[in-house]
Amino acid sequence: MEWNELDHAMEIAPNVWWIGYNTGVVWARTNPYLIVEANEAVLIDPGSMIDFEIVKRKIEEVIPIANLKYIVLHHQDPDLCGSTSAFEELTTLFVVTTTRAALFCRHYGISSFSETIDGDNQTITFKTGRKLRFFLTPYCHSPMAMVTYDEKNKILFSSDIFSAFNIVWKLYADLLDQQQYLDDVKRFMEPYMASNEAVMNFINKVEPLEINMICPQHGSIIRKNIDWWFDQLKTMKFGKAITEGKTGIELPHNLF
Ligand SMILES: [Fe+2]
Ligand SMILES: [Fe+2]
Repeated sequence: MEWNELDHAMEIAPNVWWIGYNTGVVWARTNPYLIVEANEAVLIDPGSMIDFEIVKRKIEEVIPIANLKYIVLHHQDPDLCGSTSAFEELTTLFVVTTTRAALFCRHYGISSFSETIDGDNQTITFKTGRKLRFFLTPYCHSPMAMVTYDEKNKILFSSDIFSAFNIVWKLYADLLDQQQYLDDVKRFMEPYMASNEAVMNFINKVEPLEINMICPQHGSIIRKNIDWWFDQLKTMKFGKAITEGKTGIELPHNLF
């Protein structure tokens, strides 16, 4: 895969697009995704204002902005919510997030909330009948965080769960050295996720689902060895911001 391919929206499954970028500070990169169903589209975790122009351009490579029907915000962090109100100014859409996250998302100037998510298995439904299903993932890492399951393509959009701080980045995790990438996932996950109890709650909810692909908000897409990755998650030690000091993470001094 050539780097210049990544300057464009990349179709990672039928009508599911990675619309992130591979520039700037590695630690701050995010992965917005676009799901298109007929003339409706859902933007998942759109990104910050830093990302807005590039994400907007990539959406327009695939669909007219007017076809955006929903923006899904998996929790209230600025790295995924920051550009939402800028998209609201471009077209009429609905923002889908958890009830508790919506309280704080308003502070970004976001106003187009649809019915908010406060339980597992709530869905949004396209006109064609296709559904996206939501699962609450409390304390992974936010008290009212959630993930999205695309039943049609069997994709789990996992937000910060299964995310990584990877210095060497590829779109797909299987193109990286597996042990190195596992270390990169641990570097992100072990301090960010509150506890093993919180992560096991997530695992117990989603592991029974048939999952062909995991699309995290940071790092690389996991499309192979899904069971192995769940097994690795079960062996990690979360809550490291408490157990190993202030940040629980070793970041390079030239972070920014
Ligand atoms: Fe987050
Ligand atoms: Fe994040």
